[in-house]
Amino acid sequence: MQLESFNSQLLDFLSASPTPFHAVDNMVATLVKNGFEPLSEADAWSLEPGGRYFLTRNGSSLIAFVVGRSTDIAAGIRMVGAHTDSPTLMVKPKPEKVQDYFQLGVEVYGGALLNPWFDRDLSLAGRVVYRDTNRDTLDKCLVNFARPVACIPSLAIHLDREANKTRSVNPQTDILPILFNNRDESESDFRKLLAEQVSIQHGIANGIEVLEYEMCLYDTHAPAIVGLYDDFIASARLDNLLSCFSGLQALLDVNSEHTCVLICTDHEEVGSASACGAQGPMLATTLERLFPVAETRSRVIAQSLLISADNAHGIHPNYSDRHDANHAPVLNQGLVLKVNHNQRYATSSLTGGRFRQWCDEEKVPLQTFVTRTDLACGSTIGPITAAEVGVPTLDVGVPTFAMHSIRELAGTRDAHCLVRVMTACFNHLGALNV
Ligand code: CO
Repeated sequence: MQLESFNSQLLDFLSASPTPFHAVDNMVATLVKNGFEPLSEADAWSLEPGGRYFLTRNGSSLIAFVVGRSTDIAAGIRMVGAHTDSPTLMVKPKPEKVQDYFQLGVEVYGGALLNPWFDRDLSLAGRVVYRDTNRDTLDKCLVNFARPVACIPSLAIHLDREANKTRSVNPQTDILPILFNNRDESESDFRKLLAEQVSIQHGIANGIEVLEYEMCLYDTHAPAIVGLYDDFIASARLDNLLSCFSGLQALLDVNSEHTCVLICTDHEEVGSASACGAQGPMLATTLERLFPVAETRSRVIAQSLLISADNAHGIHPNYSDRHDANHAPVLNQGLVLKVNHNQRYATSSLTGGRFRQWCDEEKVPLQTFVTRTDLACGSTIGPITAAEVGVPTLDVGVPTFAMHSIRELAGTRDAHCLVRVMTACFNHLGALNV
């Protein structure tokens, strides 16, 4: 796909995916359109060579794969992994705070940068489980208010003269979004407001009773190409929907010779320890079904490779001392191989060397990131998946600014490079091992 149409589709995907549930829903739609068949973990599977399949878990994690025609165990399988979740504010189970205004109590999900949440035009999206009293059924659906329904105003500088020097954010008291001026009691029930939205959005008659939900806030400001010469993509959730989208585009283009797997899991921002997270068994059980004979599976995994794709920190020109000067990635100057010998990243010389070779072949520049030795290092699904499954893994990503902000920034030329190298990996013929 050409760069400009790729970026415009990436922007559409980011915009249509305010939550991991929506991201998976949108990826499923693309997979179905491209001939991938749905599998249920509850059913028996019969997989055909050359077949294209996908499964989901919790509606927020997804594995899609193409079964290779080759029976060469020594060729292993090619995998790309990313995560579907991003730091956000999630509505508490009993959220109503009602005085002069109707506000919602929120929980901070993941390592969110909180200051950028002030003074934004916010909306609400997520998943709802409800009882349809017309039919007495229990059901679920995705919900997206898709318009600005809430805001978190800053405190005026006149009321906090030290704001530019010292303002910190207390997540319990300072970031409750305001939805409306308080009116009568009947409108002060969040579940009732949700039920109305479900009825409107899904065309269901009145009689919906919302039981539980995962609802989060998001910025309605649409993703955009910015910069005088269109150098940057500005959007929420670039970490890590950019990598999910890139992995998906690469998977659509595989040649089907060797088995290729895309795994996009939820809960990375909170450690991945969940049934649908990278530390859960979703990938391992899928591999068990792909290769039911234990010895064959072990032989295949030992000769496979996982590209763990997650954004990297570009060196910020205003804060350049936060990087090691020799490992300071620049936006639009290629991908970033992430190295941490303390295993916060899974890259080894074996896996990194193979990746660097693909980058050379694709004429994609490859930068390297190592965190400053006096700063703690972040992590990814890479080391977790490597530890769970035993697959040789490397960590890579596109350089970005403002990671975990409500609006992050990436280069317009980098994600497309990621797809090209992922495609080279998926279509690599023969053995992967160095
Ligand atoms: Co990430």
